[in-house]
Amino acid sequence: MLSWDEFNVDETASPAVVNNALAAEIAADHSAAQIAAAARQEVELQAQPVLAPKLEKPATMRVAATREEMRVEVAFTAPANPIAAALEAVASLDASAGVKELATAAERVTVDQKAMINCRADLNQLVPFKYEWAWQKYLDGCANHWMPQEVNMNADIALWKKPDGLTADERLIVKRSLGFFATADSLVANNLVLAIYRLITNPECRQYILRQAFEEAIHTHAYQYCIESLGMDEGEIFNMYHEVPAVARKASWGLKYTRELSEPTFTTGTTAHDQILLKNLIAFYCCIEGIFFYCGFTQILSMGRRNKMTGTSEQFQYILRDESMHLNFGIDMINQIKLENPLLWNEDMRAQATQMILEATQLEIEYARDTMPRGVLGMNAAMMEEYLQFIANRRLVQIGLKEMYPGAQNPFPWMSEIMDLRKEKNFFETRVTEYQTGGALSWE
Ligand SMILES: [Fe+2]
Ligand SMILES: [Fe+2]
Repeated sequence: MLSWDEFNVDETASPAVVNNALAAEIAADHSAAQIAAAARQEVELQAQPVLAPKLEKPATMRVAATREEMRVEVAFTAPANPIAAALEAVASLDASAGVKELATAAERVTVDQKAMINCRADLNQLVPFKYEWAWQKYLDGCANHWMPQEVNMNADIALWKKPDGLTADERLIVKRSLGFFATADSLVANNLVLAIYRLITNPECRQYILRQAFEEAIHTHAYQYCIESLGMDEGEIFNMYHEVPAVARKASWGLKYTRELSEPTFTTGTTAHDQILLKNLIAFYCCIEGIFFYCGFTQILSMGRRNKMTGTSEQFQYILRDESMHLNFGIDMINQIKLENPLLWNEDMRAQATQMILEATQLEIEYARDTMPRGVLGMNAAMMEEYLQFIANRRLVQIGLKEMYPGAQNPFPWMSEIMDLRKEKNFFETRVTEYQTGGALSWE
């Protein structure tokens, strides 16, 4: 199997060189030192094409399906007649070679064999579905496809460039929101594809995760599109998660929950490691997408309600619609894992999950104070604090925990209206229906 080291090599080397390095790793129990040294030498040679001569016979291997097959390929030499050699190879192909690594891969999959984590059934067989909710969310996500360039940004550009178009406090909110989200969605996407994808062992959930990953790419695109349209300093905005403490602390809090899972050697299958995965899901779905996004969303949507930065607001509204579904998908996944693995959800785990949601709420309250030193857009930091406590209560209840902020109310009922709105018509009377390529979106 590929390791992350090979992917790192991939950044500087040609595909042929990567395959050589891969072959060296896989053949480790034979002549690892010699082959690895040869691979390293070739990487070095490829990196210095002018100064060093290339190897006479660069590797021409393809990535083989099994370790046994790879061992054969290491000895591969270029044939005199490639076409004849290909015909011969296909005629003698052993079709079972590619499935040997999966213990049950040769069988047809039944619903009973499927599981959210630690599943041994073949993950390449999408059906029969076990989790219809995951497939439905995939369909809903596709039905609501949108692209940032379809939103008209002209009014925003004119307002942003007008010296007295926005107050200093309003400008601060726009910059902080774009600064936080421009990198936050990349962190979420990285967590999906580099950490959790391989550990969620269900094909219909993986199908949605792939859709979500693309939506996160669209969101990062949307922020980049706003930043470019408004002529902002791109370096300042994209590096804000290093430079502004209220933004950096949120990013740093999230990253600590992805670090261990991103290690190529991390596997699930023990209570402790399954709980680490569960904590990652709670951190990213409940806390980052379910709490960290809410101050910025509320601020920008409030701006749009006041007919300011309406293009940016429209972008945020499409993103909020996607994020609502990401959040609901994550909560369904977390609850399903709890259901299938009740030992994981012990008292200690419940206490840790509660603590994580409280910490995330406090970080978001600090972000609200940083971005709203005074009242602005009909809101202030104290109102946002109560709103975030209201949101935190919902997140706690959604994964079966007790509310921790009794009596917290929603000071922004219009946000609920947006969240609950069925998108036949959108908030700014624009064009959501045009993006509906399939059935109507359910917000449950
Ligand atoms: Fe996103
Ligand atoms: Fe998301």
